[in-house]
Amino acid sequence: MPLSLIILAAGRGTRMASNLPKVLHEVAGAPLIGHAMMAGGALSPDRCVVVTGHGADQVARRVHELTPEARIAQQQEQLGTAHAVAQAGDALTGFSGDAIVLYGDTPFIRPETLRRMRERRSAGADIVVLGFDAADPGRYGRLIVEDERLVRIVEAKDATPDELRITLCNSGVVCADWHLLEALIARVANDNANGEYYLTDIVGLAEGDGLRCAVEVCAEEETMGINSRAELARAEAAYQAGARARAMADGATLTAPETVFFAHDTRLGRDVTVEPHVVFGPGVTVSDDARVRAFSHLEGCHVGTGAVVGPYARLRPGTRIGAQARVGNFVETKNTELGAGAKINHLSYVGDARIGDDANIGAGTITCNYDGVFKHRTEVGAGAFIGTNTALVAPVDVGAGAMTAAGSVITGDVPDGALGIARAPQVNKPGLARRMRDKLLALKAKRAK
Ligand code: UD1
Ligand code: CA
Repeated sequence: MPLSLIILAAGRGTRMASNLPKVLHEVAGAPLIGHAMMAGGALSPDRCVVVTGHGADQVARRVHELTPEARIAQQQEQLGTAHAVAQAGDALTGFSGDAIVLYGDTPFIRPETLRRMRERRSAGADIVVLGFDAADPGRYGRLIVEDERLVRIVEAKDATPDELRITLCNSGVVCADWHLLEALIARVANDNANGEYYLTDIVGLAEGDGLRCAVEVCAEEETMGINSRAELARAEAAYQAGARARAMADGATLTAPETVFFAHDTRLGRDVTVEPHVVFGPGVTVSDDARVRAFSHLEGCHVGTGAVVGPYARLRPGTRIGAQARVGNFVETKNTELGAGAKINHLSYVGDARIGDDANIGAGTITCNYDGVFKHRTEVGAGAFIGTNTALVAPVDVGAGAMTAAGSVITGDVPDGALGIARAPQVNKPGLARRMRDKLLALKAKRAK
């Protein structure tokens, strides 16, 4: 059965007190809407429609970065969730199959949960609503179930005191045949406490038509929607707790798990050790037996088998650390491939570079990769030795087994096996230090008088 996703993301998100549209706020390095898209995306939908309103351009741009083939539907005025779903109509012309409605501000719905909803559809339910048992039902819509049939959803504002006592609540996620959904939505009115077109009204309409609606239940954590910065922080904490537990279950050692922060796509191999206070930005993979030492920050990079990174290392996007390589304290790398067994142990910036296997980059080495307009590449051959405090003025090529003298400003290529020296020759002035000091001490004595 073909599948489309409809992700509602038109709301303002007033309580975020933000210039950024709510669904673009991030959890684990991905925007809230990205989480919803990933969960739905795991079911390989044929189409994905995002309904935008507030901050539409910004949301559309980010959505297309994540999923270029996603379609955008505009909801000019936020007249309610049913009206929002109706806006997906144009983007779904020619589509027949099921639609799943998700909210862009609800990041934790699991793919398995959505799969269970689809199974309920296959088993004969016309509409499947995702419900949960709420610890505090508050302003959630209540699911009215009679004889195991979902007969109606009542919004809290429109509910009777008896109905308000129901704890089975609406998550907002719905799965139904798209043509049925479209037809039911067209019949939804806005004669309710909010004057909105409620998507939830389709259940009562379907029941009236003799169709079957069913509730699939999930854990309340999955349905957590984000409306404020405090909720965003709670969502981040919940995500991180899960990510840490998964990393350990998959065979990584986290010395102080509560201090390690993962991105949504961090991948750690077996027997990786992560020391305290490490932050993984998006796009990091770490191979088996590697160690990420304390206070390191990694983003868009790969750490090879058995490599050691940090403490206090910063690996930026495009970094690939070879097997058994070493990156030490206060080293920053960007767009750099470090060969197997190579070392950059102290106080360096290496950007736009390829460092050969077993090369050694001395303390304080800087690749001068940027001339203010263009970026240039540095190549260091296998087994080369870059002396302490070398400035490698790119584009530059240091050959295999070559060396540079400490303190050199290397502006030209160094051939294989050669020693590049590029610094002022040393001159010793006999006795000059002593004479200068005597002069200064005499001056000091004179002033003291
Ligand atoms: C909705 C449900 C409620 C459920 C709750 C779960 C309805 C009528 N009510 O209520 O039963 O318990 O979610 O959180 O569906 N949106 C649009 N355009 C609109 C209106 C909303 O895109 O015109 C989007 C919002 O950006 C948000 C989502 O739809 O992502 C839900 O809207 P919201 O107004 O928060 O609905 P609730 O009142 O929370
Ligand atoms: Ca809401």
